[in-house]
Amino acid sequence: MIPTPINQQSIEHAAALLRQGQLVAFPTETVYGLGADAANPAAVARIFAAKGRPDDHPLIVHIASAEQIADWAETTPETALRLAAAFWPGPLTIILNKKACVPLAVTGGQQTVALRIPANPVALQLLQAFGGGIAAPSANRFGHISPTQASHVAEELGDSVACILDGGPCSVGVESTIIDLSDGHSAILRPGRITRSQLKAVLQTEIRLSPQTGTRAPGMLAVHYAPNTMSLLCPANTLNAMIDDLCSKGKLIGILAFSPAAALTPCAHLIRLPEQSEHYETVLYSALRELDKLQLDMILIEQPPDNEAWAAVNDRLGKATV
Ligand code: TXA
Ligand code: MG
Repeated sequence: MIPTPINQQSIEHAAALLRQGQLVAFPTETVYGLGADAANPAAVARIFAAKGRPDDHPLIVHIASAEQIADWAETTPETALRLAAAFWPGPLTIILNKKACVPLAVTGGQQTVALRIPANPVALQLLQAFGGGIAAPSANRFGHISPTQASHVAEELGDSVACILDGGPCSVGVESTIIDLSDGHSAILRPGRITRSQLKAVLQTEIRLSPQTGTRAPGMLAVHYAPNTMSLLCPANTLNAMIDDLCSKGKLIGILAFSPAAALTPCAHLIRLPEQSEHYETVLYSALRELDKLQLDMILIEQPPDNEAWAAVNDRLGKATV
């Protein structure tokens, strides 16, 4: 499937495909999504088939405006409205109790629904042209690295999608922050670009970091977002010695490093990533994909600092490595 350039016609065509129950891959600011009409259980079933994803894993419903929360959520807590006003359109997914009419196929059988307005012009045009909610997980095979470019989707999902809208590289590059408001408390189920401090500043309450009982996020499985090549996290001060040791044994090594002192040795395939966490996030997945194609014995990843700015990166790297 060749990615389609964006124009009025391709957006209208993609919206028509969604209305027919077909799958459309589209860019968001975080990663590319694999979209289907969220109100059509047969269309949603195609997402699970294309991804090879277990069908008890819930999907995010993408909407065009905060007024549409009421189409999906039983009640709209005031906290949800405050977060929506502060962060939507943007990389924040809010979990609320679902309305009876929301198909269980979308929610993985749960009584809660995940909602988000993406901050990407193509996603917003598609949502407006379609009119309803678009259920979309990341457009990768289950457990693999999320796509941040249209070509990643084409490589991975090929002809199982009816259309891939090419909106260029994603600006954020890691999946949305997920906050669960469904039980009257606030809990972060997945860290992302929007940090716990930013959420706390708006909600003015304590926010838990672990999921509450009854909610499931496959992003929280131990192995997820993983390249095929064995990948290891390595502290900056032991990285060079580790590389030299492996190279001396004839191993083919890939390196992801960000600090200027690290990985100066010429014997490995090095991708130097930005030192600033937000810029690092934007290019992390494409760098992992690039190294993963090189038939290496191992990928060594320089361990980032353990602080809030790096929370999303550390979460994803923890799941991508052994
Ligand atoms: O940035 C993103 O969130 C991207 C773009 C396409 O919007 N989407 C994405 O979807 O990352 P996916 O399916 O790869 O991850 C969605 C996460 C999963 O971990 C899922 O379990 C969680 O959202 N989720 C969805 N509905 C949920 C619910 N009702 N309760 C708990 N977790 C839920
Ligand atoms: Mg995913």
